[in-house]
Amino acid sequence: MKVAILGYGTVGSGVFEVMRSNPEGIARRAGEDIEVKYVLDLRDFPGDPVEEVLVHDFAQVVNDPEIGVVIEVMGGVEPAYSFVKEALLKGKSVCTSNKELVAKHGAELLEIAKQKKENFLFEASVGGGIPIIRPLNQSLTADEIQEVTGILNGTTNYILTQMRDEGTDFKDALADAQAKGYAERNPSADVDGYDAGRKIAILTSLAYGMQVDYEDIYTEGIAKITREDIAYAGALGAGIKLFGTSKTVEGKVYAMVAPRMVGKEHPLYVVDDVFNAVLVRGNFLGDIMFYGKGAGKLPTASAVVSDVVDAVKHQGVNVMTIWNSRKLELADINTLKNCFFVRVPEHEREKAQSLFEVDCEVKVQEISGEYAFLTKPMTEGSFKKAASKAKVLSRIRVENVKGAGEPM
Ligand code: HSE
Repeated sequence: MKVAILGYGTVGSGVFEVMRSNPEGIARRAGEDIEVKYVLDLRDFPGDPVEEVLVHDFAQVVNDPEIGVVIEVMGGVEPAYSFVKEALLKGKSVCTSNKELVAKHGAELLEIAKQKKENFLFEASVGGGIPIIRPLNQSLTADEIQEVTGILNGTTNYILTQMRDEGTDFKDALADAQAKGYAERNPSADVDGYDAGRKIAILTSLAYGMQVDYEDIYTEGIAKITREDIAYAGALGAGIKLFGTSKTVEGKVYAMVAPRMVGKEHPLYVVDDVFNAVLVRGNFLGDIMFYGKGAGKLPTASAVVSDVVDAVKHQGVNVMTIWNSRKLELADINTLKNCFFVRVPEHEREKAQSLFEVDCEVKVQEISGEYAFLTKPMTEGSFKKAASKAKVLSRIRVENVKGAGEPM
């Protein structure tokens, strides 16, 4: 089997390295040798082993009948979408790590692959090296999925961990994550939660078999999380994590991305640094968790190469993936119940106690001049209404934190 890699950036060079480092093992699992015939990139890489196979023209790749699998690791929607579509229409399978592409055009590209009896595979698009797409498609098929909650962005998890453990500034921790190849070209996608939003959109689409548009998902990032918030979380025996969540409550599907203060009993509490984890709740299975490196060159490349092996094993056979283009209408999050950690200035103590019907207090020795508390479960809508009447310094949704009730 001859394959082509589109893009020689962080992930592309990782795929090239993995394919060249472990050819026998990969061939054994795929049932035949796999050779990288082309790597497509606009740039030149003098002195790099990729030079032998480097090409600059997509037509050369897509018109070569020897190429059976195209590996798209360029990122971004265009030209990736046009290239992938053309490759599928020409009867080649495609493996991609590109979450923007999958979130936006996954349903259509899967349909083309099905018609052509080829495969469109995207294991690396969510959770980096963690197998989660294939388990959702092929293993968790007896259950109705009731909830998918994940720490889906390695960069923000790395930043939050550094801020907690090293007292590092937000900026320094981000620069470090960029240097390690975790962050997006525009790190706002990480920090503002959009990357996690695309990933939870993909997982939710697969869980329900319908199209979830990431633009419809309520999304908050970590830019407003302060050292004070982290200190309060510490006092509560909790950590702050960016969660992408979708869940069914009373027949309605909710999806959101937002930071959470999570207590030690929450299965995702222990997930630090660049690690990602995805918790899936099935109606028969209960909870199951997937954990591993969610970003970085080689873990992501490993997931891409696992798709290449799958594509080679299934030549001429489409592995069915249920994700049609019918849109899944998400429920209004204003009706979703959550518990909140809230900080207000000290002079608003009594007002806040009456607005939120609370009398508890969360204290941190070195922080003064403010009143912090945990609410009981309340709908997002009623929280917003109460919060609009006070000067809220910060608020974070909480889970498994002692002193807070649990949301429904
Ligand atoms: N920027 C992403 C992250 C890369 O930090 O998780 C992997 O999708």
